Amino acid sequence: MPDITVTSLLGLKQKGEKITMLTCYDATFAHTASQAGVEVLLVGDSLGMVLQGHDSTLPVTTADMAYHVASVKRGNQGAMILADLPFMSYATAEQTFANCATLMQAGAHMIKIEGAAWLGDSIRLLAERGIPVCAHMGLTPQAVNVLGGYKVQGRQEAQARQMRADAITLEQAGAAMILLECVPSDLAQEITHAVKIPVIGIGAGSATDGQVLVLHDMLGLSISGRMPKFVKNFMTGQPDIPSAIAAYVSAVKDVSFPAPEHGFSA
Ligand code: KIV
Repeated sequence: MPDITVTSLLGLKQKGEKITMLTCYDATFAHTASQAGVEVLLVGDSLGMVLQGHDSTLPVTTADMAYHVASVKRGNQGAMILADLPFMSYATAEQTFANCATLMQAGAHMIKIEGAAWLGDSIRLLAERGIPVCAHMGLTPQAVNVLGGYKVQGRQEAQARQMRADAITLEQAGAAMILLECVPSDLAQEITHAVKIPVIGIGAGSATDGQVLVLHDMLGLSISGRMPKFVKNFMTGQPDIPSAIAAYVSAVKDVSFPAPEHGFSA
């Protein structure tokens, strides 16, 4: 597989081929997932929950992220590496520049930040300085204490209208990609059609340009024993982990995942 770039991801959206993304935190899984055809390896701050055992992503630091980005880089075979800026690491422009530099120098190709239209200035400054940005909208787990829990976002019409407008604002600011988490499937479809940049969904239905899942979730691994409704266990019926990841890639590509029961209504 040739190296995945922002241009090739845009090309996939334009020709209607779904984009596959999976979280990844170490070299061995980076090797396995990129060999299986996963186009984007997301070094997500979900590592705070699935690797470190915290009950939220808030304790994760930029140093934690850089360690895992560097590990993923060593195993990666041509996928794009997308890295999260963790909680409160992009509160000021200076902080944002310094922390993005740390993650890009560790091996990231694109940076993900959580928020809405207020991210516009940061996205513009980063894009101007050579850093592609993915805007994570909808359920933004770093804001769990403001949102009052891990809840579906955009169910009320006013909120949905705001999210549609914010997506366009962020595209105009220079965002290279949007990630929508836990939003009604119809709203995700509208946003996907309203912007030219790729939109990746998790709990956002099948109409987005691609899908992402947390690696441990799709392998059926959980500390709590509970799984979000948008997760499918891809280990079921598979002999090993590489086969489960390959099954995920096929299911996203042929749009058999996510099924309607994995999505949310307004
Ligand atoms: O941190 C992460 O893994 C994420 C996904 C849930 C999309 O942001």
